[in-house]
Amino acid sequence: MANERLAIEGGQKAVRQLGPYPAKLGREELWALIDLWDFSPQTKEKLKGIIFSDPQVRGPHLFRYYGPKPSQVEAAEKAMAETMGVKHCLAVNSCTSALVASFRALGIGAGDEVIVPAYTFFATAAAVAACNAVPAIVDVDDSLTMDPRAAEKAITKRTKALAPVHMRGAPAQMDALMDLADRKGLPVVEDVAQACGGSFGGQRLGSVGTLGCFSFDFYKIAVSGEGGFVTTNDEWLYTRAQSWHDTAACWRPDRYARERRDGELFCGENYRMSELQGAVALAQIKKLDAMLAGYRRAKASIKENIETLPGLQFRRVPDDRGDTGICLIFFLPDAGLTRKALAALQAEGVPAGGIYDSKVRDWHIFTYWEHVLDKKCVAPDGLPWSALPEKELPPYARDMCPRVLDLLARSIHVEINCHYSAEDCAAIARGINKVLRAYLGQ
Ligand SMILES: Cc1ncc(COP(=O)(O)O)c(C=O)c1O
Repeated sequence: MANERLAIEGGQKAVRQLGPYPAKLGREELWALIDLWDFSPQTKEKLKGIIFSDPQVRGPHLFRYYGPKPSQVEAAEKAMAETMGVKHCLAVNSCTSALVASFRALGIGAGDEVIVPAYTFFATAAAVAACNAVPAIVDVDDSLTMDPRAAEKAITKRTKALAPVHMRGAPAQMDALMDLADRKGLPVVEDVAQACGGSFGGQRLGSVGTLGCFSFDFYKIAVSGEGGFVTTNDEWLYTRAQSWHDTAACWRPDRYARERRDGELFCGENYRMSELQGAVALAQIKKLDAMLAGYRRAKASIKENIETLPGLQFRRVPDDRGDTGICLIFFLPDAGLTRKALAALQAEGVPAGGIYDSKVRDWHIFTYWEHVLDKKCVAPDGLPWSALPEKELPPYARDMCPRVLDLLARSIHVEINCHYSAEDCAAIARGINKVLRAYLGQ
């Protein structure tokens, strides 16, 4: 048989058309998402009818890069950068990832130390260890955030960063911490997981230090199920965090360019945020300030109606104007009284909880971080602890931060909802007054 004329030489193409084929994601996947929302059965039926009668439903490109439409993740990054007042923002899949990417961007690794507070979700310390560095754990003060004096005492020649945590919605003592960091030439990585939108001295948290790390997991202020962001004004650190988050220096101005500067190319991991999370995060960022206004209004209304009683001490908030208002914490004179008052508050229907009970395990309190205290490792190489001689490791002991245990055992945490009505606030304040009057002896 004679050879056919090749298409390249003007012959007929062998393959004239492929597709169109159904999109990867279609009606079933859209329905799976809608079904997560609690619509009434009637509305669900209507929506189902509309979705399944349309043959044209083509699902979205859920990868943040290469999509045919503008990326939701990128839009969320822009909105977050604008809201937080920073030049650069990187979306990631969690705050833990944000912390690791930030520490890696700073070049932190084996043999280094990072100072973390004794009261934070364990992720702050775990992220340090995941970089093969070791966390130096320091006590908190009456703000329940890193005590700047304790941080100063813990600094060694191996210290590479301070990682203050804005716990339970309130800013850490950022003026003293930034002063310390400046004096010692150390970068500050703010853990903003629990205080998204808060501020210190008029600057949004996450824009005060060198880098800020946010969580959008479902239990935080703004949420996308899972998710996180890194904020910074430093372009080089952003470039390095961005590379770490996407396996290997992918998205510098030119993806396949050779290294422009020492330290630009290295092997990273994959912390990318998906378009699903990006879309939800963007909607939440747009609502953030309205939610914060609700939290602050409700907290102020409860707090100003609580009677002044001897023995009642409110948690110190280093900058009241920058408090997110997600909770109201006060200390009572001793742990036994706190437990009794707590039970009475709960019986009144006040949304109150304790923070620390020595019999209840909790990953937010350093005494339970046996992964660190007992120097646990994931592999026989013994890292991160084996990178330093035993005597040079931070001195870990269960009694090394007594203040945090004393304060937390005497803490009562009242949950604030940004939707509380004036009546809700009045009832909560009434319940608190009723119980505290009884227990504080008036
Ligand atoms: C203070 C703090 N840091 C870090 C994290 C980790 O956040 P993610 O769950 O997004 O990794 C949390 C989450 O609970 C947190 O509370």
